[in-house]
Amino acid sequence: MLAIIGGTGLTQLSSLEVLRREVARTPYGEPSGALTFGRLCEREVVFLARHGYGHTIPPHRVNYRANLWALQDAGAKSIVSVASVGGIRPDCAPGALVVPDQILDYTWGRVGTFFDDIETPVRHIDFTHPYDETIRRAILAAAQAAGEPIIDGGVYATTQGPRLETAAEIDRFERDGADMVGMTGMPEAALARELDVPYAAIAVVANYAAGRRASAAGIRFERVEEVLQDAMTRVRKVLVQLCGQA
Ligand code: HPA
Repeated sequence: MLAIIGGTGLTQLSSLEVLRREVARTPYGEPSGALTFGRLCEREVVFLARHGYGHTIPPHRVNYRANLWALQDAGAKSIVSVASVGGIRPDCAPGALVVPDQILDYTWGRVGTFFDDIETPVRHIDFTHPYDETIRRAILAAAQAAGEPIIDGGVYATTQGPRLETAAEIDRFERDGADMVGMTGMPEAALARELDVPYAAIAVVANYAAGRRASAAGIRFERVEEVLQDAMTRVRKVLVQLCGQA
């Protein structure tokens, strides 16, 4: 079963034929909301709204461990995350969809591992390529079949939030190699890897990052909502196609 984690702008999947909702409990506490099981293009999927269905949980307070655990426990064999980002690279313009292939992690204070216990031998995961290449390819193929342009590859910098960045922080991220910036990429991707569940993301560019182009003087929130609404319609099309292909 495919799991979809929806971020800002995607708290539900309109094309999902809902079968049931389930409140999950995990050894790590409660996930962001009930798991929604449904059918998308004949295929069973489970959907979870990362920030809760009322969009009330800020990025640094998301219980990433509970979310990932609950999805795996529900039978998820792969996970597609949808997350909004600010664009740093010039082609990562508002409205663009990107399938990132690398991550930088600037978050702090988040519980970022399931291997947290001091009684069992220490475990390290390989994280050289943080996203699953097979799912990345499947997303790219689905977008192509849906006729929706999508950018293959990019470095996703994860910041702590919930505030947006300063222009100097964005300059620094760019010097580090970042192409886009978001607040939820980590520890989500690492936790999926720890659980051995293949994971990839669709990053949706909501705005130019702080200090860049149209955001030179600041980020205008009114525009962001409009851009996301339109982009999420395209993301839904890609997801439907992705399910149809599998
Ligand atoms: N910065 C961080 N996270 C974001 C942004 C941004 O500019 N836009 C959407 N999510």
